[in-house]
Amino acid sequence: MAGNDISRSIQTQRVGGTFPAAGRPNLRGVSVELVTEHLRLRALTSDDLHDLHDRVFSDPDVTWDGTTGTLEDTRRSLEAKIRHVDEHGFGMMAVTDRRTGELYGFAGLQHMEGGPDVEIGYYLARRAWGRGLATELGHALVDMAFGELKLTRVVAVVRPENTASQNVLAKLGFRRVGVEHHYGAEVELWTRSAS
Ligand SMILES: CC(C)(COP(=O)(O)OP(=O)(O)OC[C@H]1O[C@@H](n2cnc3c(N)ncnc32)[C@H](O)[C@@H]1OP(=O)(O)O)[C@@H](O)C(=O)NCCC(=O)NCCS
Repeated sequence: MAGNDISRSIQTQRVGGTFPAAGRPNLRGVSVELVTEHLRLRALTSDDLHDLHDRVFSDPDVTWDGTTGTLEDTRRSLEAKIRHVDEHGFGMMAVTDRRTGELYGFAGLQHMEGGPDVEIGYYLARRAWGRGLATELGHALVDMAFGELKLTRVVAVVRPENTASQNVLAKLGFRRVGVEHHYGAEVELWTRSAS
């Protein structure tokens, strides 16, 4: 399933709506949703708070640095993600099951540490692992980055021990360029340029 590129390219769709994209007229019209074979990526809302907290932010195996926080910490993170979309016209989106609507986590493109680089990120609840879903949504995000957003480069930072995420990046055509310091840690920097 993870390598099912043909069905991905056929079934990835852009679905209506626009983000405000304040101050970035070149990004007006960016899709508010991405639909892939098994997933629907839609705008995050405050209604996602409890599911996100329970399934993502409370599980040390799912958070970026293995730490978990309070519901208020999750609320602040969620608000920051929604604000990024309001300000830039793109950002992290809710990852949901296309058929049932169940929230699996979040993923998207965002400015790394304020920019100008744009990074790809994906965080899925444990129940969604091992089904090729990160690869599937990653392909849709790469298409959006080099298509609609007209980016020339996308970066990713990943902890050296996070083999699963590195495998996803490799399958998406990213290559490892070295070790750098980001988000307070020594991380691997991976990049992919528009082909
Ligand atoms: C990393 C993560 C997104 C992977 O999601 P996923 O949907 O399970 O990944 P996929 O099923 O698309 O797998 C992609 C590849 O990685 C491999 N992989 C998956 N989990 C793995 C693991 N724990 N160890 C090693 N390889 C793994 C798969 O085998 C697959 O390769 P293959 O198709 O050649 O077999 C998911 O584990 C997760 O959300 N983890 C916590 C958050 C996180 O680490 N985010 C990334 C931060 S940089």
